Amino acid sequence: MKKSLLSGVKPTGRPHIGNYFGAMKQCIDLQNSGEYECYLMVVDYHALNFIQNKEEMRQLTIDLAIDYLAIGLDLKKSVLFKQSDVSAHTELAWIFDTIVTMPYLMRAHAYKDAEAKNKEINVGTFNYPVLMAADILLYDTDVVPVGQDQKQHVEYARDIAEKFNFIFKESVFKLPEPMILNHVAIVPGTDGRKMSKSYGNTIPLFASQEEITKAVMSIVTDSGTGIPMNVFNIHKLFKSEAELKPIYEANTGKYKVLKDSLIEDIDAFIKPLRERREELAKNSDQVAKILEDGAKRADEKAAAKLIQAKKAVGVL
Ligand code: AMP
Ligand code: TRP
Repeated sequence: MKKSLLSGVKPTGRPHIGNYFGAMKQCIDLQNSGEYECYLMVVDYHALNFIQNKEEMRQLTIDLAIDYLAIGLDLKKSVLFKQSDVSAHTELAWIFDTIVTMPYLMRAHAYKDAEAKNKEINVGTFNYPVLMAADILLYDTDVVPVGQDQKQHVEYARDIAEKFNFIFKESVFKLPEPMILNHVAIVPGTDGRKMSKSYGNTIPLFASQEEITKAVMSIVTDSGTGIPMNVFNIHKLFKSEAELKPIYEANTGKYKVLKDSLIEDIDAFIKPLRERREELAKNSDQVAKILEDGAKRADEKAAAKLIQAKKAVGVL
């Protein structure tokens, strides 16, 4: 039997190369290995914590589905769906709510960060890991390709699965493993910090040539004469270190030359993706249909698991 893969991205804005190299690419690679049944999700209910405008939510959802298709999601091998279409996710999250404690959720990084910044935290943000655990556990998921920032969330899913199985004395849920590749666990942005939509330091995955140029030119470099590490660390995503070393050594201090070379390499990589995306976007009506079909397939699997959970707790 095939192993099961599940991952998701929030429709909160254009994906960037950190999303791609950190997580999305691994999903497509494993899909193409033929060894996995893949569930790839537009995580709209989690995004509702950030996007509270209906036109924006609808557009970002369709856009992200197109993005997935443009990077190679193959509908013959993967199920593409949106989270809110499969009601088992929120239903199971409620069941989990009754076994997860508040102190446990208060240890979550995302919650602690928000609290440290004195932000007003809504219940959806506090509960975020519980819904994510439901997302993962409904599909008997073996592997969850994600970036480093999601490691704790996958650990929460494991803990919750174990706790449920223990309390209700039945192995309903399989324990998932995160898949985090070391060299891309934290893809750096143009300022050297983690690339993140919220830091404004991104290189969009489907960027135009002008956008790539603008982003690369904004990469922060020190005023020294050595190797500009912020440029090099992004460049490593597109060329091997062995190829890059001689280029960087021959051009120490010549930041403009090195940035131009990076622009060229990023554009060569993005251009086919960008073109494929442009083609797909012409038929965006079809995308709604693809998500509908995906929802049916995902629902079949998730509903069966939810029944198992409901029987285990005694409401069915
Ligand atoms: P998000 O856009 O927050 O829904 O993230 C989607 C996926 O991209 C998650 O698996 C994140 O862990 C991953 N990700 C986001 N930013 C980065 C980054 N800078 N480096 C590596 N992975 C990332
Ligand atoms: N929390 C993830 C993020 O911010 C998105 C997500 C929600 C997810 N549910 C998931 C990722 C299930 C993997 C599996 O990126």
